[in-house]
Amino acid sequence: MLKVVLGFAMLFFVIESCFYDSEEHLYPNPPACDTLNVSYNLDVNPILMNRCYNCHGNNNTVSVYEFEGYLDLINFIEKGKLLGAVKRQGGFLAMPQGADKMPDCEISILEAWINQGKKNN
Ligand code: HEC
Repeated sequence: MLKVVLGFAMLFFVIESCFYDSEEHLYPNPPACDTLNVSYNLDVNPILMNRCYNCHGNNNTVSVYEFEGYLDLINFIEKGKLLGAVKRQGGFLAMPQGADKMPDCEISILEAWINQGKKNN
């Protein structure tokens, strides 16, 4: 039974990591996660759309925080809570609320985008 569960976990991980591979194949071996030149439109926004906007989208009725859209996201990041929340660090509410922790690659993409200057690209 444990093997089956582990098998599924592995499969999930493999599928997840393939999903976020981009066409830029800069590593000879299968890159776990491509965080070079992260794009707001192609990388960041789709992740947030998938995991956050049902609660943090425009005109939502769930949370006071709305970060759907580039400028709203920039302003929200200024509050300094986004990475702590998705990394589930102490002192932050764990996000996405009521769901599993985001895959490491998605967190890395968000972090890389911030470190690369939060470009509107
Ligand atoms: C099921 C609803 C839900 C989802 C999905 C969700 N959030 Fe939240 N989030 C909340 C609520 C509720 C709060 C508490 C603040 C409030 O009531 O507005 C919150 C608070 C936060 C905070 C502030 C944390 C703190 O420590 O004060 C951050 C940052 C945040 N969310 C980011 C995200 C991100 C990023 C995602 C997607 C990866 C996400 N959330 C997904 C409902 C949600």
